[in-house]
Amino acid sequence: MGHLQNRNIIIGVTGGIAAYKIAETIRLLRKSGAAVRVIMSRGAQAFMTPLTLQSLSGNPVHTDLLDETAEMGMGHIELARWADAYLIAPATADTLARLAMGRADDLLTTTALATPAPLFVAPAMNQQMWSNTATQANMRILEERGITVLGPGHGTQACGDIGAGRLAEPEEMSAALEDFFPSRELAGKRVVITAGPTLEAIDPVRFVSNHSSGKMGFALAQAAAEAGADTVLVAGPVTLATPPNVRRVDVQSAEEMLAACLAQLATPSHLFIGSAAVADYRPVVAANQKIKKSGESLQLELVRNPDIIAAVATMSPRPVKVIGFAAETEHMVDHAQAKRKAKGLDVIVANDVSRKDIGFDSDSNAVTWIDGSGAESIPMTSKKNLARILVSRCAQLFAEGEDDDLPQTGRESGGIGH
Ligand code: C5P
Repeated sequence: MGHLQNRNIIIGVTGGIAAYKIAETIRLLRKSGAAVRVIMSRGAQAFMTPLTLQSLSGNPVHTDLLDETAEMGMGHIELARWADAYLIAPATADTLARLAMGRADDLLTTTALATPAPLFVAPAMNQQMWSNTATQANMRILEERGITVLGPGHGTQACGDIGAGRLAEPEEMSAALEDFFPSRELAGKRVVITAGPTLEAIDPVRFVSNHSSGKMGFALAQAAAEAGADTVLVAGPVTLATPPNVRRVDVQSAEEMLAACLAQLATPSHLFIGSAAVADYRPVVAANQKIKKSGESLQLELVRNPDIIAAVATMSPRPVKVIGFAAETEHMVDHAQAKRKAKGLDVIVANDVSRKDIGFDSDSNAVTWIDGSGAESIPMTSKKNLARILVSRCAQLFAEGEDDDLPQTGRESGGIGH
């Protein structure tokens, strides 16, 4: 998902038989775009040669704290500052003990103290050593300090024992780092997202609305901002906190939401995501005073609300990509595909709201991504994770090299002197 692009990762390798797995870990991290530098303890060098890891990382391997030549290249403090993350793998029982004590008796542990970067440790040892009270006490200390522990796995060990103590798999370590960093896939892109319900006043105290929680739209805004987008969230009335680095515009009614979106989109934007559950109808008039009870029935005349996303998709200039949502109860793909075309959307994200386990107020969702070339389902996951997946897919729409240049506004293209 591009989260590791241009991230600097130090891998500290210590002396365990599982050190061989680090070769594959380095390969995976580099394939994901990370720059990798390796520190090897003396013990590690008994299992792997620095030359192997130098070739794989594409950088000289650091081994000594007191090496004049190495210090002239990249000194240990400089190395510690260079890192965006420091992964110690495999971390032996002795390494964990030294880390827990805050020792700085070699380059690997000194760097752990000197780096401002987050620390990840992947323990690997004999199962008895792992379950030993001393090791477990050291692990508690490290976890209390906020260090992320990866693994260890359970299974057959090099010594023939069966139990916990196997080094986490390379894919697991690389995925943990990938997940840790937000992606920057939308850096330089402007994104406007609608979220929540709209509230259509009947009178000063009553309204027509729906059960939308806004969770999906807020999660999308968070994921977009984390991916580096300049993110505006046009939110109906919900009680959710504004995600960091997101500009929020609060609205109540569909008409206000449309006006806010058009005002925001006056600045040319790359992406518009309509995740709001806009009320389809509003009362023809909102009474100025509270409507008094009288009689056994009350007639409420409703009028159709504007379709915000359809208006956005046909405005000029239009956001480069317009993505909508469709809640369906039957023939989901066909209905959503028809809706995508009718509204002029690039993509529609459909969800089956007849299912009880997903949807409105739930923290999870399973959806189908539908574009001009077909439908692809994204299995059930948390709304937060789904938001990251969707944002990453949106970013790929630009990565595919389509027209990601922003359209010029009339004012900008027809400036003075032309
Ligand atoms: O037509 P339907 O409500 O099923 O379409 C859902 C999609 O259209 C969502 O993306 C929703 O945010 C958007 N929509 C809108 N304005 C409306 C109705 C729906 O933007 N009035």
